[in-house]
Amino acid sequence: MKRRTFLFVLATAGILFAAAGAGASDHAFVGAAKCKMCHKVQYNSWLETTHAKALDHAKAATDRTFEAACLKCHTTNADEALAGVQCEACHGPGADYKKMSIMKDQESAFANGLVVPTQATCNGCHTGEDHASKKDLEAEKANAAAIHAHKN
Ligand code: HEC
Ligand code: HEC
Ligand code: HEC
Ligand code: HEC
Repeated sequence: MKRRTFLFVLATAGILFAAAGAGASDHAFVGAAKCKMCHKVQYNSWLETTHAKALDHAKAATDRTFEAACLKCHTTNADEALAGVQCEACHGPGADYKKMSIMKDQESAFANGLVVPTQATCNGCHTGEDHASKKDLEAEKANAAAIHAHKN
């Protein structure tokens, strides 16, 4: 390989690497317990939803065999340690926005990874394929039994 070609390849690899690093995985997940201290109403209500119990349900399934591929939809970030469909599966990984000074400032919270879920968020798991039926976000928003109660 000529020296110039080699340098070009190196530079391209560097750009690709930087681009990959700027993705959603920029922010780390912290787990639902960290959100609980400031959002007790949402947390306690969420705990009663099937989302909170989704990993246990998948493990107890009798019509399918539990395997690693289930984690994609039955945990948060496909991580067994983040059991169930937690806050961050819908609101984005919270390491950088969970600080009070940032949370209080909506613009800064969004800039640090906070997400207000859209239909696309739901569709990521409710694909309409196999047993994962589609769910309508607008229809479910007020349904505390499906998502959580809305208060502070
Ligand atoms: C130190 C306290 C604190 C922690 C920890 C915290 N929040 Fe917040 N959060 C707030 C405050 C304060 C607000 C702004 C006022 C409000 O809506 O309660 C807020 C707002 C929000 C909003 C509404 C955003 C909007 O404007 O529509 C969401 C969603 C949210 N937080 C999710 C989370 C999640 C998920 C976590 C855990 C990863 C978390 N918060 C951790 C204090 C906190
Ligand atoms: C990370 C994947 C994931 C995301 C994101 C997700 N869900 Fe779910 N949802 C599930 C899984 C898995 C279950 C089944 C839980 C169980 O029964 O164990 C479920 C269950 C539900 C149920 C209850 C279904 C029933 O018949 O009991 C509703 C309603 C629902 N989700 C709506 C939504 C909506 C609306 C959104 C978007 C705001 C959403 N979900 C986002 C994975 C997800
Ligand atoms: C593409 C996302 C996705 C994958 C992968 C996935 N699930 Fe699910 N699962 C869902 C959703 C979404 C629901 C909620 C039910 C609905 O939408 O009607 C659900 C519901 C369930 C339920 C409760 C309701 C029922 O149908 O009995 C069980 C049990 C379950 N899944 C087991 C599993 C197992 C075991 C695996 C792995 C072999 C798995 N799932 C893989 C998305 C998924
Ligand atoms: C299945 C997706 C989903 C999960 C899981 C989820 N939320 Fe939400 N959350 C929503 C939706 C949808 C809204 C309403 C957004 C809107 O108004 O457009 C919302 C709104 C909020 C708000 C704004 C104030 C309010 O109550 O409406 C806060 C705060 C919040 N969520 C915190 C949490 C916390 C903390 C958890 C975990 C204990 C959590 N959420 C889990 C979907 C989810």
